[in-house]
Amino acid sequence: MKRIVILTGAGISKESGLDTFRDADGIWSKVRLEDVATPEGFAANPKLVHDFYNARRRQLQDPAILPNPAHEALARLERHDGFRVLTVTQNIDDLHERAGSRNLIHMHGEMLKARCDMCGSVLGWTDDIEPFTPCPACAREGGLRPHVVWFGEMPLEMERIYAELAACDLFISIGTSGNVYPAAGFVAEVRRFGQAHTVELNLEPSESASRFAECIHGPASQVVPDYVNQLLTKQK
Ligand code: APR
Repeated sequence: MKRIVILTGAGISKESGLDTFRDADGIWSKVRLEDVATPEGFAANPKLVHDFYNARRRQLQDPAILPNPAHEALARLERHDGFRVLTVTQNIDDLHERAGSRNLIHMHGEMLKARCDMCGSVLGWTDDIEPFTPCPACAREGGLRPHVVWFGEMPLEMERIYAELAACDLFISIGTSGNVYPAAGFVAEVRRFGQAHTVELNLEPSESASRFAECIHGPASQVVPDYVNQLLTKQK
């Protein structure tokens, strides 16, 4: 059975209506990442950070925000008996799960979860969080934060990810600029182990494009279903 690891970034959700980070109109052109995506920023101004994630959490739950054909194609690939697919996403949205992906790692956390720094509980969360919202598990105030990985923090499930990268036959990177490590280093890691084919599917060449054996450029909603269809046809 062919083992496939797929890495996704903000570009796969762009056509669902969610902004990327580093494109001209991206999130980091509007707010400073140091202010809203670092432990230091949160310590300095928790209200600002909560407001930023509250707005994004509300937007994600807008009925207009739906998985697009790229998310759906990856879920279709996962369902096929001939492949063992792991999707590793840097995205904190839930569009992969809504499209039907099940073998999924959110290495940068999830927007629809909160974590309590005081008792360690991780909780499903759809409402706004305020600096003094009490933790439903331990009832203490001031410890709740978005369950997202900020700059300077360790991404989640790295051991499992590296084991899968070492064992895969095909690595596909979709909609990520290749700016943020460790995800930007995954292609080099795969190539270090030798045999796997490596493919970039992105709107334009990413920072890491030269490290891939094959690159296909275009909007995710087109190039991802096309690529998945090719894999499924070859499998027949
Ligand atoms: N289809 C495919 N790719 C697209 C599309 C699209 N419709 N629109 C944009 N892209 C590409 C851009 O060309 C860019 O290369 O998606 C990429 C998005 O890059 P970033 O904005 O840097 O997003 P990402 O790579 O996911 O960022 C990584 O940085 O700030 C952090 O934690 C945040 O997880 C995020 C991490």
